[in-house]
Amino acid sequence: MSPADTHPHDESDTAQKPSRRRFLQSAAAAAAVTAAPHAHAQQQAATPATAPTPSATPMMPVKLVINGHPHELQVEARTTLLDALREYANLTGTKKGCDRGQCGACTVIVSGRRINSCLTLAVMHDGESVTTVEGLAPDGDTLAPIQRAFIEKDAFQCGYCTPGQLCSATALIAEYRAGDASAATADVRFRPAQLSDDEIRERMSGNICRCGAYPNIVAAVKAVASGNA
Ligand code: FES
Ligand code: FES
Repeated sequence: MSPADTHPHDESDTAQKPSRRRFLQSAAAAAAVTAAPHAHAQQQAATPATAPTPSATPMMPVKLVINGHPHELQVEARTTLLDALREYANLTGTKKGCDRGQCGACTVIVSGRRINSCLTLAVMHDGESVTTVEGLAPDGDTLAPIQRAFIEKDAFQCGYCTPGQLCSATALIAEYRAGDASAATADVRFRPAQLSDDEIRERMSGNICRCGAYPNIVAAVKAVASGNA
């Protein structure tokens, strides 16, 4: 029989020559074998054999006098003073802006000095006194002079930065009256005769206001520092 007599679908011939169907069947089988271990690995990764055991975080006691009231808090050692005030003492007037020392929204006064409460741990201030915006007014019914001045001078818009601005301004005026110099002071051996706008801007430069109420904030601080508020 000559090759010309052979039927195109003859079985013996098909066994010898690769056909398109056989090629596709082989390729599919190879792909399945290759993919199987990978799929198994993925399944293993998604369902770990044993769930991680949560580790107990030891709590530490910290005593703070906040706005004149003693507080004894149990906090994790890593708790910032900002979180201790907001989450443990329920004093949410102090705001969290950046949580990295860039905006000043978290400014409070600790033992007479203003600090960014997001940059310090609560346990580092055991036994110290803290003043927050809630404690600036001498009592619950009146406002502190700086708070009145902020209202009169329209020194805020959204108000998010305002608690930090108020604490910073309060400490600024005390620092100025105590004779502290600033980077804007012409001769650091002497207290400047008055708080100029430049002095106030420099001394308030750690407090950012995204609403841009700066001119009115300067006016409010100046009014209080000069006794006109
Ligand atoms: S929240 Fe502390 S400096 Fe911004
Ligand atoms: S009043 Fe809005 S950020 Fe200062």
